[in-house]
Amino acid sequence: MRMLAASPLLASPYLFGGSLASLLGAGDLTEGAFLGWLDALQQSGEVISSPGQALDVLDFEPAARKALPPAHFGHLATGVDDDGTVRANREAYSRIQIRPRRLVAVEKVDMSVRLLGTTWSSPIVICPIGGQKAFHPEGDVAVARAARAKDHLQILSTVATSSVEEVTAARGAPVWQQLYPTNVWEVGRSIVKRAQAAGCPAIVFTVDLQEGSNRETLFRAQQTDKRDCSTCHQGAYTGWARGRPGAASGGFSQFAARKPMFDGLDLSKVTALRPVPLDWDFVKRLRDTVTVKLLIKGIVTREDAQLAVEHGVDGLIVSNHGGRAEETLRPTIESLPEVLVGVGGKIPVIVDGGIRRGTDIFKALALGATAVGIGRPQSWGLAAFGQPGVEAVLEILRRELRTIMRQAGTATVVSINRSYVVARVP
Ligand SMILES: Cc1cc2nc3c(=O)[nH]c(=O)nc-3n(C[C@H](O)[C@H](O)[C@H](O)COP(=O)(O)O)c2cc1C
Repeated sequence: MRMLAASPLLASPYLFGGSLASLLGAGDLTEGAFLGWLDALQQSGEVISSPGQALDVLDFEPAARKALPPAHFGHLATGVDDDGTVRANREAYSRIQIRPRRLVAVEKVDMSVRLLGTTWSSPIVICPIGGQKAFHPEGDVAVARAARAKDHLQILSTVATSSVEEVTAARGAPVWQQLYPTNVWEVGRSIVKRAQAAGCPAIVFTVDLQEGSNRETLFRAQQTDKRDCSTCHQGAYTGWARGRPGAASGGFSQFAARKPMFDGLDLSKVTALRPVPLDWDFVKRLRDTVTVKLLIKGIVTREDAQLAVEHGVDGLIVSNHGGRAEETLRPTIESLPEVLVGVGGKIPVIVDGGIRRGTDIFKALALGATAVGIGRPQSWGLAAFGQPGVEAVLEILRRELRTIMRQAGTATVVSINRSYVVARVP
């Protein structure tokens, strides 16, 4: 704590540094006084003003809120209904305890993982997020530059605001392409072909969104946003959020005009981002079309995991869309074990949803995930500080994972297994 007081961080007025420094400098530090300071800090609502001030990735959320107009922050934050599944994703990690082993010599921590034939320096994957230019003018390109700087796998959304070619160039290496195939087969097929031509080694088919997701936090935020949004959102396609009070009807072409992955395609018959019907026959057809790896994102049950393997899928992402699809109240980390039973070790399984700490990543790996996906934290970093913000988010997570791996006595990711975690006794 005395080292903390001497740190340049605390020399600034930021984070009550002055008062902690004087508390420590006066030599009268008691545990109670320190905890009181910490409590005051947590209640203070102070917001970081540079990436270097962040102590953890959660510090970026208030900075993003401050940087964004209410409706854009609402779009990022929202779940569905009461946001119960958003909270469940996060809270589930606090029910899992870590069992560190002692007296294990860990000189060097190796966080690398092998995923579908490629080795990555960490198991932290950047999830697809649509419309990132709503958070920062450089959008997915800034994320790609950060992914390049820190060597992370990036998955690009179909409804990204930058093209797969631009993002691949900024990343300096191929990215994976997420797929919303739409209700018109030729449109979906063209997106797959374009992504493959850009060098994408994997297509990630998202299957967890139907229509009418009740994104109430977004709708409330929209009501408080007093800006004129019609220049960007005129006649906007409201997609799965259709049905909200006052929602515009349809307007897919105008929506798609701002999404480069639809450039040059005939969208006259497109009415939905999902295929109609969204079923296993569609997966069969897609499997026959995709010449690179095919993953499904949004699987949360053993039965569907088994079916995915039977349909020749190469990997799964256990996901509930960050609690934005339906209000199941079921955290993804609690779905992971049954999905792993379903795949029986035949294909890799990534899990996303609520991962905010290196210890969360450690727990997911211990429960059998090959890698983990990060959604909102990348956008918090992006919204608040652009590329340096995303880099800081990735760096903090890497640092925290390295720390817990060392503490637990696990020098490599493959050495992290179920024996390192235990469920909290209720
Ligand atoms: C603003 C926002 C946009 C998203 N857009 C997409 C998308 O276009 N495609 C997709 O498959 N998932 C999308 N997701 C879901 C994420 O890929 C990921 O599954 C989820 O955010 C993980 O949960 P987390 O945010 O708690 O980390 C989006 C999530 C958010 C928050």
